Amino acid sequence: MDNHRALLICCALSATLLLVGAVPAPAVPDVDCARRQDFNVSAIKGCCSIPTFHFESFRKQCGQYMPDGGPRVSPCLYECIFNATGILRASEVNVANARNMLQRLLGNNQDFVDVYLEGMQQCSGPVEAMVRARRPRPSSAVAKCSPVPLYYGICITRYVFSYCPSSSWSDTEPCETERLQNLNCPTMRESRGGGGTTRTIAQITK
Ligand SMILES: *[C@@H]1O[C@H](CO)[C@@H](O)[C@H](O)[C@H]1NC(C)=O
Ligand SMILES: *[C@@H]1O[C@H](CO)[C@@H](O)[C@H](O)[C@H]1NC(C)=O
Repeated sequence: MDNHRALLICCALSATLLLVGAVPAPAVPDVDCARRQDFNVSAIKGCCSIPTFHFESFRKQCGQYMPDGGPRVSPCLYECIFNATGILRASEVNVANARNMLQRLLGNNQDFVDVYLEGMQQCSGPVEAMVRARRPRPSSAVAKCSPVPLYYGICITRYVFSYCPSSSWSDTEPCETERLQNLNCPTMRESRGGGGTTRTIAQITK
């Protein structure tokens, strides 16, 4: 993920969180919003012990998108899982279906199922912003699947990082700094208002 897109994702999520009032937003002195967030999987896992996803439970329906050596995150795998479980109906998140999917993916981790589900419900706005910010790609293998489910995955991961269940959070200074930056760094104006954008997602998810 390049810097530019990482920043857009960061800002889009922050904007939404501000909109819904989920962020207490005090001035936090040691947050440096100019610093680039290196938001990779090992950094996330080092702070929030996210359970391993049981992609295997979708092998029957989505095995064709799980190459040898185990499932790998890809737009088609995510789209296949979203399709198989009916997560997006007319671009709206179906909460019951989303919970069901998360239980299959996360197993008996109720606290994580809850926070992932909250994240999913918070992510429609940021996902719309990501869709709008997307640069057209030359046709490739990846282009045949919608990016929307994967965008949900990216957005939700950030949400879960910010609202990691406290028993799974590593309360160290670097982790806390990262979390505060994730929560407090600036908003992306385009993601506000949002008229007409659900149509975009509806087109893309079709
Ligand atoms: C992942 O993030 C950590 C912590 O920010 C950083 O030290 C590491 O170099 C990053 N790894 C990759 C592969 O980008
Ligand atoms: C998901 O469903 C849509 C609409 O039926 C279809 O066009 C798309 O190919 C499906 N994607 C996968 C990965 O099966």
